[in-house]
Amino acid sequence: MHKKDAYLCRVLNLSDCMKVYPKIKAGIIGFGRMGEMYLKEIMKNPLWKISAICDIDPEALEIASQLAPVGTKLTKDETEIFEDESIDVVVLSTLADARKKHLFKAVIYNKHAIAEKPVGATIEEEHAVLEKLKDSSLFVTVNLPLRNAWYHKVIKEFIDSGEIGDLAIIRVCHMTPGLAPGEGHWAEGPLFHDCGMHYVDIARWYAQSEFKTWNAQAIRMWNYEEPWWLQANGTFQNGIVFDVTQGHVYGQLAKDLTHNGYVDLIGTKGIARMHHNYVTATVELHGVTKTKVIKKPFGDKNLDILLDLFARSLAEGKRNASLPKVEDAAIASEYAWKFLENAALNEMPVRGDLKTLEEIRKRRNNKRIGYGLLRKKKFIE
Ligand SMILES: NC(=O)c1ccc[n+]([C@@H]2O[C@H](COP(=O)([O-])OP(=O)(O)OC[C@H]3O[C@@H](n4cnc5c(N)ncnc54)[C@H](O)[C@@H]3O)[C@@H](O)[C@H]2O)c1
Repeated sequence: MHKKDAYLCRVLNLSDCMKVYPKIKAGIIGFGRMGEMYLKEIMKNPLWKISAICDIDPEALEIASQLAPVGTKLTKDETEIFEDESIDVVVLSTLADARKKHLFKAVIYNKHAIAEKPVGATIEEEHAVLEKLKDSSLFVTVNLPLRNAWYHKVIKEFIDSGEIGDLAIIRVCHMTPGLAPGEGHWAEGPLFHDCGMHYVDIARWYAQSEFKTWNAQAIRMWNYEEPWWLQANGTFQNGIVFDVTQGHVYGQLAKDLTHNGYVDLIGTKGIARMHHNYVTATVELHGVTKTKVIKKPFGDKNLDILLDLFARSLAEGKRNASLPKVEDAAIASEYAWKFLENAALNEMPVRGDLKTLEEIRKRRNNKRIGYGLLRKKKFIE
């Protein structure tokens, strides 16, 4: 957008601006579970238009052809998206092993980007991405949905208002019968990296400080080679302490599935906490002058908010402060790896066996019972 247009957008409001200026044209690269979610949100959002979808798997493109509007370009060649000058934003939702290459191409082809996490398959790749983006004027964000969750914003405001005194203890827990070992996301590393980095990130977001010390305990559930549950605790540089518990080991074969997800923020005077059932999130605030309970829809991936923040940034020509930064994603990823490394130095017991894991994978893939199911695969190894 030209400077003059950006100025006009600042004086108009966003929806007026978008009436004057054309919709943001997006190309999705990687049309799996996340790619499909992006498509659905883009199709619902009047500020956005889907132009093209790329996936190397013909089955994924077949699904895209059933869901995407007529006229959407479907291709297995990412170059067709990068070279299309009409496309403003690329949505990068393949697995992590292609992320660095795609982010580098976004810079080369001058495309703004919404990237899935992590922003590289290794710390070295993530640092290379940060270096590449350092001097770029492109808008690049990472989908860190917890940062856009209404409940975390409400709790943060309550803490900032002084109602709980000084924040002292951050407790974060996310345990579900979700993505099972060996099921997918190979490039993302063990679960505490793949999924756990979100909870590492939100602990750091609450603390507004950097990690200082840590100790981690993990368990190799079902004798799988990598841990699928990990708890890390430690300190931030400003003296706040934390514990983060994360695992997809939560009653995978129970008749009725359940989960346990919460944050518990403990101050020197009061507390603020949240739990959810994936439909409704409940925030309970116990401050020195106020007690409040708020229940609202959970929001899940909050892609609607991410798309709006991105559109606002583009329209105004100025990065919205709430848009998650690539640097925050890289730091969360780096500490998730560090906590895993620390757990490997400690005793890591084994419970259960691979036969149980096989039962879990069959139940998830064939019977489609479980949380965060990936698309059905024809074969399980
Ligand atoms: N931010 C979040 O909350 C969140 C949640 C789930 C997954 N994720 C991340 O999103 C990414 C995708 O996860 P998913 O669950 O959708 O996985 P998925 O396996 O369902 O989909 C990945 C898709 O990418 C395609 N693909 C792989 N390499 C490609 C390439 N080079 N070019 C084009 N297409 C390619 C695959 O064929 C597949 O269709 C992962 O990196 C994961 O870590 C983020």
